[in-house]
Amino acid sequence: MNVLTRTWKGLIAEKLEAYGKTEGQRWRPRLHIAPPVGWLNDPNGLCQYQGVYHAFYQFSPFDPKGGLKFWGHCTSRDLLHWRFEGTALAPDEAYDCHGVYSGSALVEDGQLSFYYTGNVKRTGDYDYIRTGRESNTVRAVSVDGMQFEGKRLLMSNGDYPEDLTCHVRDPKVWKQEGRYYMVQGARTAEDKGVALLFESEDGEHWSCLHRLETKEPFGYMWECPDVFQVDGYTVLSISPQGVKADGLKYNNVYQSVTTFLDGDFREAAVREDFRELDAGFDFYAPQSFQAEDGRRIQIGWMGMPDVDAYYTNPSVEDGWQHTLTLPRELSVRDRVLCQKPVRELDDWWNFFIPFVNTYSDVPGDCFEVAASGTGGEFRLVLAGGLELSWKEEEGIFWMSFTDQRLGAGRARRGRAVEKLTDLRIIVDVSCVEVFLNGGREVFSTRFYPDREEIGVELRASGFDGRICLHREGT
Ligand code: FRU
Repeated sequence: MNVLTRTWKGLIAEKLEAYGKTEGQRWRPRLHIAPPVGWLNDPNGLCQYQGVYHAFYQFSPFDPKGGLKFWGHCTSRDLLHWRFEGTALAPDEAYDCHGVYSGSALVEDGQLSFYYTGNVKRTGDYDYIRTGRESNTVRAVSVDGMQFEGKRLLMSNGDYPEDLTCHVRDPKVWKQEGRYYMVQGARTAEDKGVALLFESEDGEHWSCLHRLETKEPFGYMWECPDVFQVDGYTVLSISPQGVKADGLKYNNVYQSVTTFLDGDFREAAVREDFRELDAGFDFYAPQSFQAEDGRRIQIGWMGMPDVDAYYTNPSVEDGWQHTLTLPRELSVRDRVLCQKPVRELDDWWNFFIPFVNTYSDVPGDCFEVAASGTGGEFRLVLAGGLELSWKEEEGIFWMSFTDQRLGAGRARRGRAVEKLTDLRIIVDVSCVEVFLNGGREVFSTRFYPDREEIGVELRASGFDGRICLHREGT
C-alpha cells in the first residue's frame, strides 16, 4: 500500500464516519446496492468467489454528483442483502490517477484477477477525444477477495490499434478453451463505436485479435462491452453512445443493447438487430458473470450518465446518488434474451395477498406485484403518480409519471407489447423494476415517494395474481 492509497483510505473512512448512520435513509433501498455515501455508477468485477458474491462499482465517495472514481465493494451470500466492504481500488498510481474506471473480475485457481481502465487526463489544451487522455489497461489481484494488490499496467494507448481515438476502456475478461479473452469498448477516429477483442495465453500479455463491429456505425462510442454464452447463444452486450431515438426505441441519452453473435466470436461480424435490454429511464452499463451453479447473472447501473438537463435524483440532498439493479438471471427463449430477477427473490417473499383484477392498499415499501392474464387491460398506479398501463387494443406498455415530482423530472417510456401474459413489478423504496412476458421486456426506474409506505392502485380486466411481501418471523 503506498502513501496515496493510505491517504485515500483515511479520507474515505473520515467521510463515512462524518456522514453517520442515520442520514440519507429516506430513499435507500433494501435489496438494491447503493453507495453508503457519494455517487455510484457502473457495476464492476462481478463474481462469485469461494461461495461469496462480490459486486464492485464505480464509486465517488466525496461528491453525490460524481467525481474521481474508485471501486466500491460489497459482498452477499444471497444476491439480495449486501454488505459494504470498503473501497477496493483507489486511484493511486500514475497510470490510474484520474480514476479507476470500469472493469471485470476473473476467478481462477484460488485467485481473483481484476482488469480495469486506468484513466488519465493530461493537463493542457486537449480535446480529450483524440488527444490528452490515457486509457490504460491495468490488472490487480486478490487471494482472499478482501485485499487487493499487485497492480500492473498491461497496455496503454500505444498498444491499441492505430485508428482509434483515446477512448478505449472497460475490459471484460473471461477464459475459454484454455485461452484468455478480453473485450474493450472503443471509439474510432471516424467516430464509430466498436468492441476490440484481445487474446492472451497468460492473462498478462495481450494482442488484439478482432474487432466486433457493425457495417454501418451504431453510435460513436461503445462502452462496457460484454461477451458471454447463454443457452447455446453467444451474446454481445454493449452500451453505445450517440444512437438517435427511433419511435419508442432509444429514448434515453445512451442505451444498453444486445445482439447474438453467429459462428465463432473470434471472427464474427455484428448484426444490427439490436434489442434494448431495458425500456425504462434508469439502466446503463450492465455487466454479467457466471455463478458457481452455472447461472448467467447480469446487473446494470440503475442510472444514466449526462441526464442533468432532464432530471436530478433528490437523494443528492441526502448525500448519495444511484443504485444498481437487482441481479437478473438471463436465458434465451425463441431467440430472445430474457431477464428475470434472481430466484433468491422468489424464496425471500413469504407472505402473499391474492387479487383478481383489483387491489387497492398500502403494502409497505418493498414488495412485488405478480400478475398473469389472458388479455384485456392492466393499469397500476404506484404512490399516486407512477402509472404502469397496457391495453390490448393499443398494444403498448407504458411507464408514465403522472406526478412529475415523484419522477423528479422523468416523463414516459413505452414499448410495443402485443400480448401481455405475465408481469412482475418489483418495488423497493425508490427502485421499480418491471418484467413482462417472462422477462422479454423490462422497464427500470427510480422514483421518490414522499411517504414511507407505497400505495398500490390496481384496476385490470383479465388479470389475477398476488402481492408478495417479506414479513419477519413468518
Ligand atoms: C460508463 C462509463 C465507463 C467508464 C466509467 C467511468 O458509465 O463511462 O465507460 O469506465 O463509466 O466511471
